[in-house]
Amino acid sequence: LRTPMSSIRAFSEILRGVEVLSPQEQVRYASIIQEETIRLTRLLDDLLDLSVLENGQVSLNVSTGSLRDLLDHSVAMARVGRDAAVMQIQRNIADERVWLCTDLDRLNQVFLNLIVNAHKYCDAAEPKLQIIVRQSAQQLTIDFIDNGSGISNEDQNLIFEKFSRIGGHESGGAGLGLAISREILQRLQGDITYLPGQNGAAFRIRLPESVVGGVARTDLSSTDY
Ligand SMILES: Nc1ncnc2c1ncn2[C@@H]1O[C@H](COP(=O)(O)OP(=O)(O)OP(=O)(O)O)[C@@H](O)[C@H]1O
Ligand SMILES: [Mg+2]
Repeated sequence: LRTPMSSIRAFSEILRGVEVLSPQEQVRYASIIQEETIRLTRLLDDLLDLSVLENGQVSLNVSTGSLRDLLDHSVAMARVGRDAAVMQIQRNIADERVWLCTDLDRLNQVFLNLIVNAHKYCDAAEPKLQIIVRQSAQQLTIDFIDNGSGISNEDQNLIFEKFSRIGGHESGGAGLGLAISREILQRLQGDITYLPGQNGAAFRIRLPESVVGGVARTDLSSTDY
């Protein structure tokens, strides 16, 4: 919280100050203030969201939809403002023919954080993210496995704590995404864990069988791409 606040303060003081600034300088400082304000707003939204989730005050908004559509949506959202060619995403569409009945917005929030994290933190020369769906009688699992250097044993538990950020990534966020995801999955009666030993960072989402409503109707006639 402190960093965006102090740059907003410093640059607004410069803009208001006695020193004469060129139009270019004015625009540059105003843009910094604007960017930092956006960052701060996001941070506050996330903090508020987390505290609401932690207090159990959150009501679920249950709807139905196919897992494939939901993943399409999350992948597309994660790519906004990023070069889509940079990270290859491998999926098996046939396995995604699952009809879900749960809070799809909340699940999207979890998927989005995992995909954005892979975009931000996967350090492979040719970054890849695999999304693997498995369905058994008891549960649905969705694995997100990238080919970066992964997360060390001692950090694997830390990353689910709020404000935990490993390594000094430039593009890093506040360190709230995984903490929020863990709370969300608890509400959805599932969980999210780190999967060690996968040659990259790997996360597993588990959802109870009760969220699954059979084969997705919309996907029955579609062909894989
Ligand atoms: N795919 C990954 N590869 C390597 N490190 C990762 C990966 N995903 C997460 N991490 C590490 O875990 C930390 C916590 O992730 P988390 O999503 O909670 O926070 P964030 O992405 O830093 O910020 P936010 O999600 O709030 O914008 C990250 O800062 C990063 O150090
Ligand atoms: Mg994140």
